[in-house]
Amino acid sequence: MAKRIQFARTGGSEVLELVEVTPTSPGPGEVRVKNRAVGLNFIDIYFRTGLYPAPSLPSGLGTEGAGVVDAVGEGVTRLKVGDRVAYAQGPLGAYAELHTLPADKVVVLPEAIDFETAAGCMLKGLTVQYLMRQTHELKGGETILWHAAAGGVGSIACQWARALGVKLIGTVSSPEKAALAEKNGAWATIDYTKEDVVERVRELTNGEMCDVVYDSVGKDTWETSLDCLKPRSLMVSFGNASGPVEGVNIGILNQKGSLFVTRPSLNGYADTPERLQWMANELFAMLESGKVKIDVANRYPLSDAGKAQDALQGRQTTGSTVLLP
Ligand SMILES: NC(=O)c1ccc[n+]([C@@H]2O[C@H](COP(=O)([O-])OP(=O)(O)OC[C@H]3O[C@@H](n4cnc5c(N)ncnc54)[C@H](OP(=O)(O)O)[C@@H]3O)[C@@H](O)[C@H]2O)c1
Repeated sequence: MAKRIQFARTGGSEVLELVEVTPTSPGPGEVRVKNRAVGLNFIDIYFRTGLYPAPSLPSGLGTEGAGVVDAVGEGVTRLKVGDRVAYAQGPLGAYAELHTLPADKVVVLPEAIDFETAAGCMLKGLTVQYLMRQTHELKGGETILWHAAAGGVGSIACQWARALGVKLIGTVSSPEKAALAEKNGAWATIDYTKEDVVERVRELTNGEMCDVVYDSVGKDTWETSLDCLKPRSLMVSFGNASGPVEGVNIGILNQKGSLFVTRPSLNGYADTPERLQWMANELFAMLESGKVKIDVANRYPLSDAGKAQDALQGRQTTGSTVLLP
């Protein structure tokens, strides 16, 4: 038997339950991973609350983890039992001792990267890779605005921006989070609980505003974010921490300066094994060079997944959170 977290109905963290299940054998093209660490992400909360529907209920939860291949299905030649691996996509169910998923969604983990680091960055780091290197290819010299700069994705973004020579202005909700974001390489921070974000961006950029805004907060920040952009520049809306952006009149993009907007996802970018491997190689190179360090600031036993989600949703965490099976 193996432990996993599942939910039979959507709702608050109380719907998460720890159950014992009979491990499934991997089918053709699949592998089973014995997780050594599991990553916690805001998207897990969207599935738990029903904002994103799970394919069926009861459902497992989580898509990010790292561990050792424990069984391989028919036709899998690239991976073998005992390989150290990491993943950030595939079916829900990473919050578990054992997780079965398509081998195509799994990459081999370099020896130099430990399991907690990998579980703390596969989804978040690959997200920063595609946002900064593909959605808009930052070349250095740009000024960008990044919301939630002290969070899991944000902490990686600050360091990656510094490595690229990009001026990242990060929004945060406390002086402690501001200090952390600046330590990670944010060029400037704005405490949105005390300061007017648009006015501070205007001051910091001498009125020029930003080349790109990366907004994962959603509903609460949509218009502010558009107001922080240069004419004809890009708004990247990639999350809904405060709720989804809905009912948008497309004419607002004209009013605010002939803006562009995109709503991307990791699955839309890491959509082939080759692209996933290329993106992972870039992330691993950033880790191995020391330009990006993963701050696994919060660790919980698997059984405390609900507590961990409450802390993430309650803005109490910084950096990455992992669950330990
Ligand atoms: N599209 C994609 O491919 C993709 C992939 C990964 C993640 N994401 C998105 O990126 C965001 C960050 O994910 P993460 O897992 O790294 O989380 P996180 O940034 O560690 O945590 C979320 C942070 O958002 C800020 N926030 C602002 N308004 C909030 C609200 N109403 N409720 C809760 N938090 C609020 C808080 O920081 P402050 O206290 O400083 O405001 C909070 O700490 C999420 O929105 C997630 O969905 C998208």
